[in-house]
Amino acid sequence: MRHLISAADLTRDDAVLILDTAEEMARVADRPIKKLPTLRGRTVVNLFFEDSTRTRISFEAAEKRLSADVINFTAKGSSVSKGESLKDTAQTLEAMGVDAVVIRHGASGAPFRLATSGWIDAAVINAGDGTHQHPTQALLDAFTLRRRLVGPDAGLGQDLAGRRVTIVGDILHSRVARSNVDLLHTLGAHVTLVAPPTLVPVGVENWPCEVSYSLDNVLGRSDAVMMLRVQRERMNAAYFPTEREYARRYGLDAERMAKMPADAIVMHPGPMVRGMEITAEVADSPRCTVVEQVTNGVSVRMAVLYLLLGGNEPAVTQNRPAPA
Ligand code: CP
Repeated sequence: MRHLISAADLTRDDAVLILDTAEEMARVADRPIKKLPTLRGRTVVNLFFEDSTRTRISFEAAEKRLSADVINFTAKGSSVSKGESLKDTAQTLEAMGVDAVVIRHGASGAPFRLATSGWIDAAVINAGDGTHQHPTQALLDAFTLRRRLVGPDAGLGQDLAGRRVTIVGDILHSRVARSNVDLLHTLGAHVTLVAPPTLVPVGVENWPCEVSYSLDNVLGRSDAVMMLRVQRERMNAAYFPTEREYARRYGLDAERMAKMPADAIVMHPGPMVRGMEITAEVADSPRCTVVEQVTNGVSVRMAVLYLLLGGNEPAVTQNRPAPA
């Protein structure tokens, strides 16, 4: 694997290798000194053209735990605001000798363009592009699902075969939904999308999942329910659903959560809008994994960086635990 652009590019074996490597990386977080020398002397640029809290901080933490030299770039305050192109920005980074570029961009396809243009030689990792893909989010979600539904070390080598995941909300604008549908399908899970008809993409019938317009009908057969934010910033104001109507039909409150199987979990990639897609009571409940997903994101991103840049060096120990 040279770049990570789309969850759809991962085979089952690629994905399981990343999840297993992330389990090894998670052990580093339990040590008094949370650092490995694996990427010493390598330079990683975090190139963020769009706002981010979790992904940007998580990649930076992952890079620093692997001892990489880290350069943070945000479009605000850079020469992008003076009209500089992606090509010229990329060539500036290439001239500085970077080994990997983590890119978030508002335009779907920008990371693919960067990886295939010949402008740079570095590995490219997609940290979210437009409404297209967010592969490391899908990987950290799969990691969280495997830990919760299969078990931490018992899950090594395993996928999510037969698990039932429901993704609820603004599917139309969601790169998280697209990435999760691709990866969860590859890992053998059954995915159901739930959304108002206006927030379902054209062509969804060709995606490897089911679609339902009723949340209440699918809660009882879900091992995990992933709630998504309505992305108003990507919508024409005329199409905003009203908050009260949306929450009534598609929001997850305690009454709805009680319809889920007792051991089913609630997920959210963040940022959450409490009171719209999820109530504060559900968001703060022990069944909600939103904070755990953030913690797992660092381990998963360490695994991706290690596998793309670390070569054949052992990740943590010489003796990788045997798959169960
Ligand atoms: N989940 C996610 O991508 O969050 P940020 O936009 O804060 O990075």
